[in-house]
Amino acid sequence: MANDGGKLFITRRTISLDEALAQHGLMAAFQVEIWEGEGAPSPATLLEKAQGCVGILTQVVDPIDAAFMDAVPTLRVISQCAVGVNNIDLAAARERGIAVGHTPGVLTDATADMTFALLLAAARHVVAGADLVRAGGWRGWEPMLLLGKALQGATLGILGYGRIGQTVARRAKGFDMRVLAHRLSPERAAQDGVTAVDFEALLRESDFLSLHVPLRPETHHLIDAAALALMKRDAALINMARGEVVDPQALYKALHTGQIGMAALDVTEPEPIPADHPLVGLPNCLIVPHLGSATVQARRAMTQLAVANLAAGVRGEPLPHRAN
Ligand code: DGY
Repeated sequence: MANDGGKLFITRRTISLDEALAQHGLMAAFQVEIWEGEGAPSPATLLEKAQGCVGILTQVVDPIDAAFMDAVPTLRVISQCAVGVNNIDLAAARERGIAVGHTPGVLTDATADMTFALLLAAARHVVAGADLVRAGGWRGWEPMLLLGKALQGATLGILGYGRIGQTVARRAKGFDMRVLAHRLSPERAAQDGVTAVDFEALLRESDFLSLHVPLRPETHHLIDAAALALMKRDAALINMARGEVVDPQALYKALHTGQIGMAALDVTEPEPIPADHPLVGLPNCLIVPHLGSATVQARRAMTQLAVANLAAGVRGEPLPHRAN
């Protein structure tokens, strides 16, 4: 009989979702509800919509904790349409036999590209230059106007040498940068032409420090006042990981007092960051709205992978990409 496989709730319409659902036969076999409201469903709405579901497809903004899982005892799979899964209590899911899927690999290049978009924008004052022109403040070519930092020969420190960190390192080699990373084997370092250093040296020696670590208890506010104090005074901090990896108050102080030169943030704490947040007002802080994976290609591939994980999970098959 059609549609008798159980209920599925999808918390956001994503690119090529209908095609992916059809490809896996989910529309025909399950009762699928897609949230079409503006923005994310509230936690209460999410809980209400999840009632009786065997699978849910979530985004990074959907908090899924143990209490949620206990309130939805029918749940077999949580399929996250992202590589990061810090919004989901993985251990609680494992204890309850709920598989958690995620989408590694397909957004690596998009995120590495965005890292360089921010790095270059910060190094070369791209946004300040565009703002100057738009405001009618450009009086003509000036030999000292908005002088930036060269990438060639500069040191890029990578904190989090996983798929994305490694791809950023390859991009950096193309810019003739010296690359440092933390926690990698000597073999890997030699193979990638990257210098392995400890955390303190990474902070002290980097002209650009790029963050790619997952958010876990041990990485929460890893970049705090003490870490920022070790960085060079003209260093730029790029955060592509999660906002909570950086202590926002300490970062504000470091940027405001000139302890570090600049920051370019794809992610913030909180998200969204309010327009009147002190960091937003700083001229040496560039913030974009969590765009790391925001290409048509990456988001389509993420949808396909998330739907494949969902389909496998609700059918009791191994997930192509399981996070727990
Ligand atoms: C991820 O995948 O974790 C990104 O932050 C959202 O695309």
